Amino acid sequence: MNGTSLPVVEVGPVAHGGSCVARLDGQVVFVRHSLPGERVRIRVTDTTKRFLRADAVEVLEASPDRVEPPCALAGTCGGCDFQHVDPAAQRRLLADVVAEQLRRLAGIERDVVVEEVRPTLGWRTRVTWSTTPDGRPGLRKHRTHEVVPVEHCPIAHPDLPDVTAHRWDSGPVEAIVSSTGQRLVVTDATVPSDLDVDGVAGTDGHRRAGGTRLTEHVAPHDFTVTGSGFWQVHPEAARTLVDAVLDAAEARPGDRVADLYAGVGLFTAFLADAVGPDGLVVSVEADRQGARDARRSLHGRSQVRLVADSTERALRREPALADGVDVVVLDPPRTGARKAVPGVAALGARRVVYVACDPAALARDVATFAEHGYRLGPLRAFALFPMTHHVECVAVLDRVD
Ligand SMILES: C[S@@+](CC[C@H](N)C(=O)[O-])C[C@H]1O[C@@H](n2cnc3c(N)ncnc32)[C@H](O)[C@@H]1O
Repeated sequence: MNGTSLPVVEVGPVAHGGSCVARLDGQVVFVRHSLPGERVRIRVTDTTKRFLRADAVEVLEASPDRVEPPCALAGTCGGCDFQHVDPAAQRRLLADVVAEQLRRLAGIERDVVVEEVRPTLGWRTRVTWSTTPDGRPGLRKHRTHEVVPVEHCPIAHPDLPDVTAHRWDSGPVEAIVSSTGQRLVVTDATVPSDLDVDGVAGTDGHRRAGGTRLTEHVAPHDFTVTGSGFWQVHPEAARTLVDAVLDAAEARPGDRVADLYAGVGLFTAFLADAVGPDGLVVSVEADRQGARDARRSLHGRSQVRLVADSTERALRREPALADGVDVVVLDPPRTGARKAVPGVAALGARRVVYVACDPAALARDVATFAEHGYRLGPLRAFALFPMTHHVECVAVLDRVD
């Protein structure tokens, strides 16, 4: 089929996941690399019973929000969704997505503002590269296993180990740079002898060379993160989220707080400052290495109780939670906290602060919290993953007496 015989659609609103919604012969089609209000020629990439997926291959009428992508591979590499969109407009699209999820899944009407976090390029302090059959590092095409070789990724942090300058005998290869400038590679491949790194770990987490324990700094606290253990990716993310969580939690001296899905204890350290020596922070993390790292950073804090267990089990069994708490902070993975919500609500906290990296999971869980007597209060959202469709929310849920 030559280019001009491909169909043309009028593009409607943005959808969760980075595409916009259009109609083709009455069928819903999710169009990547388009913008609301545009007329674009599309190539259908996927057909399901309920909808089509497509790529915009020619823009016939462009949105004023369209810009020249900063990346030469935009539209080919699946790593970014919004390289063609002005960063302020990206935030408006993300705000529309959060508002739509809240409307659809929780029945809540909200005007959402997504706050800017700079920089919008050079922000990825962790990148996992796949490799092509001839060993070149790259990123996968959207919804395929095909690896697009990448020599320069504009959203990758400039101080990351220079993985793309080398050939690898297998993937994946994860490159990490910490806020204190330590450079780590996590891979099972043969590591080039001239790669400039401070440490190499295997994907099983074991040390292969150098140090694999990174120090992350969020003033005034230091945190240990071993290997590819969880840490916020954007260089400003940890500070931004700590400030937002502390503002939202309003924890007072002497309060009892639960920090669920605590990672290496980022929020725990600051919540412990807020509740002081007469308070308590019960910090729950399921990943064994993450929990060990939290212990390394926080073992001196008498008001912190570290629990290495799943949130669901800790809610049932942890004695320190048995008498309830005043405030809960929860920061689950993308899937959200569906199973944990009833147990969290049963803790009877006056306030729950929900940190969410998926607005759909957040909206679904907000609806469940409502069934358990919690009403959505202020919600902030942050563009912590510029050029992608990802967005981070910090939502307050207050107990309705
Ligand atoms: C989004 S991260 C947040 C970590 C931390 N709050 C931070 O900002 O650094 C989610 C964390 O939840 C942990 N996790 C995943 N499932 C869990 C579960 N069922 N119970 C407890 N922790 C879990 C992961 O290991 C990860 O450390």
